[in-house]
Amino acid sequence: MAEIAVDYDGLIPNNVGLNADPRLRRALEQWHPTYLDWWKDRGPDGFQDNLVYLRTAVGVDQEGWAKFGYVRMPEYRWGILLAPQVEGRTVGFGAHKGEPAWQEVPGEYRAMLRRLVTVQGDTEPASVEQQRLLGATAPSLYDLRNLFQVNVEEARHLWAMVYLLQKYFGRDGREEAQDLLRRRSGDRDTPRLLGAFNERTPDWLAFFMFTFFTDRDGKMQLHALAQSGFDPLSRTCRFMLTEEAHHMFIGQTGVGRIVEATCAAMKKAGIDDPHNIARVRALGVIDLPTIQKRANLHFSLTLDLFGSELSTNAANAFNAGLKGRYLEDQIDDDHVLSGATYPVLRLRDGAVVREDVPALAALNMRLRDDYVADAESGVERWWNRIIERAGIDFRIALPHVAFNRRIGEFASIEADPAGNLLSAEEWARRRDDFLPTASDNAFVASLMRPERAPGKFAAWIAPPRTGIDNKPGNFEYVKLA
Ligand SMILES: [Fe+2]
Ligand SMILES: [Fe+2]
Repeated sequence: MAEIAVDYDGLIPNNVGLNADPRLRRALEQWHPTYLDWWKDRGPDGFQDNLVYLRTAVGVDQEGWAKFGYVRMPEYRWGILLAPQVEGRTVGFGAHKGEPAWQEVPGEYRAMLRRLVTVQGDTEPASVEQQRLLGATAPSLYDLRNLFQVNVEEARHLWAMVYLLQKYFGRDGREEAQDLLRRRSGDRDTPRLLGAFNERTPDWLAFFMFTFFTDRDGKMQLHALAQSGFDPLSRTCRFMLTEEAHHMFIGQTGVGRIVEATCAAMKKAGIDDPHNIARVRALGVIDLPTIQKRANLHFSLTLDLFGSELSTNAANAFNAGLKGRYLEDQIDDDHVLSGATYPVLRLRDGAVVREDVPALAALNMRLRDDYVADAESGVERWWNRIIERAGIDFRIALPHVAFNRRIGEFASIEADPAGNLLSAEEWARRRDDFLPTASDNAFVASLMRPERAPGKFAAWIAPPRTGIDNKPGNFEYVKLA
């Protein structure tokens, strides 16, 4: 099938042939003003009239998806872009394995599919809302621009899901699309659908941890949905993954640059002991134990997004061919999972044990395991290597999956970061050793002062190795004048 070229002239840039589908175009054009109201009301606070050096996707090929230029955020060209259709693509797993991939919603799975799209869609505007106040305290123009890049792309991901809802789900879909703009992160009455997306992102360390840990959950979910037998969902998610990679880059380098600044300041001051928190903080940098506590918090909150270890919903979505496993098409098995088992961590008589269960029931656990492995290698590669090179005796380690959980097998117990079960009293006594305290957070907050001169960086974060789009160090990523 010939590719539809990107139409970049209309109100909504797209490669889905919007001009040939007046009903859909009308639905999207009606949604657009409400969307813009949402963006102005709940998107980045301030900076809406400033020129920001942003990347806009204008195509889905190598060159097309990264066009850089100055743009005011409300004028950003949010578009609907799908990865190219693969000729002869078939459903890759589940009961329909081998049948042609669906181009329309299979009637029997309509409700399940709509739910998957809605839940994914809800996370996208949620993170924009969570990050809306951070512009005021950006540690540099480079970081300010990166924040806004993430924000406009998450908003584009909302567009991507709204396109699916409006194109394929009729009136229900249009209502879901409205509700995606009605819910509010952290709101008591109309919160976002998932826990971690109702948490606060109060400072830049939280922002970088969020993009490292929580955007990485997004990556795993998008990978699983990119395997979908519903082809429009697969193509949508495949393109979103190109943007998601950049969000994690911002998280891993962001925390990495904080670690780098801390290590450099410690060495300069002749401090060997990373646990001498008072002395390290007096240097105006964030001590490594506080960074560890923040990692503990964001990692455990994000694990809850994978849901219960054992899940019939996940089994049903797999059987239906709607949501696959991470890299499903590269796994060497029958892709039906008949008779297969998978090891799951369970609580048995007060201990954490590994138990083989039917693989179909354990799909959430499997995706979470893939996530943990991915996050772990990122921590090693991006953070611990910096500490090691500085010769400081400290290692950032991800806590055990039983630590600080609210959903699933370990929701009812407390455990330390090593996975040892704790009584409620022990937890209360030692909690502050594991998770950020009010005074830790107040210290981080005290560092959050904006640095707005081109090429200047707040002292608690090192400059990046290279600029965005290879721009020089003093490039004016956001024009504030
Ligand atoms: Fe996203
Ligand atoms: Fe993201």
